[in-house]
Amino acid sequence: MVSAKGFLMNSEKTRELLPSPEEKNVAVQIFGSDPEELSRAADVLSDEYPWIDLNAGCPVRKVVKKGAGGGLLRDLDLFRAVVKELRKHVKGKFTVKTRLGWNENQISKIYEILVEEGVDEVFIHTRTVAQAFTGKADWKSLSVLDKKIPTFVSGDIFSPEDAKRALEESGCHGVLVARGAIGRPWLFKQIKDFLERGKYSEPSTDEILRSFEMHLSLLVEDKGEEKAIKEIKKFVAGYTKNLKGARRFRDEMMKIKNLQTLKEMFYNFLREV
Ligand SMILES: Cc1cc2nc3c(=O)[nH]c(=O)nc-3n(C[C@H](O)[C@H](O)[C@H](O)COP(=O)(O)O)c2cc1C
Repeated sequence: MVSAKGFLMNSEKTRELLPSPEEKNVAVQIFGSDPEELSRAADVLSDEYPWIDLNAGCPVRKVVKKGAGGGLLRDLDLFRAVVKELRKHVKGKFTVKTRLGWNENQISKIYEILVEEGVDEVFIHTRTVAQAFTGKADWKSLSVLDKKIPTFVSGDIFSPEDAKRALEESGCHGVLVARGAIGRPWLFKQIKDFLERGKYSEPSTDEILRSFEMHLSLLVEDKGEEKAIKEIKKFVAGYTKNLKGARRFRDEMMKIKNLQTLKEMFYNFLREV
């Protein structure tokens, strides 16, 4: 997720957020509120990336205050103008990530705009912007949509069973998983197995360890050692969820500044439990 303005100003911080163009199946998500600014960013970005997504759902105050992210849903005429303009400028796949509405459910109207303006796919977090992350995601609220374009349901999908129920209740083509996959990257495969074969298995200690090590080495490759160590700590809670002694282990881990020590500690903890 990058700011269109930041990108156009050539901000180094924004550039750092961009994935390598060689990476496959990666979308650059842009946020902003000015159709012209967003279009200029999309023009340049879509020369390099095959998939551009518009953020029309972020509830963070700093973003919404400027009419961007979820703030776009406050004025659906402006929202339409943004989508229309972007469609003209994105050369490849153009998708939108959104919510049910600003502070009430207006998803039918929002969806109609997206279909009419020629968006390729839509991703919907089934809460309003005002709800942020409170209350429960309302998967059923998407059942009224005619699904003329590939439509994905998001919100509170933490297990393969949740994914199945979200698909059934929403009638969507697919699901989007966010918090549930933090420190549990195998969740995607579990969901796939469950939907295709009706069963799935929990990862063994060895598999957890391999996932963690791969995650860490990709982070080091991407961000360098120092940043990788900071970043992986955000995921440790997920990797060690429900394991005995996890809280004490996490506290210890937060103090570590050395990559090798970090790996050894994780290995020893898993072996112990
Ligand atoms: C740490 C974090 C970062 C997120 N970043 C983005 C983002 O950059 N763009 C976006 O459209 N949604 C973002 N989301 C929202 C998720 O895509 C998703 O819609 C929301 O978390 C609800 O799904 P969940 O219950 O599976 O987490 C983020 C959520 C979390 C928790």
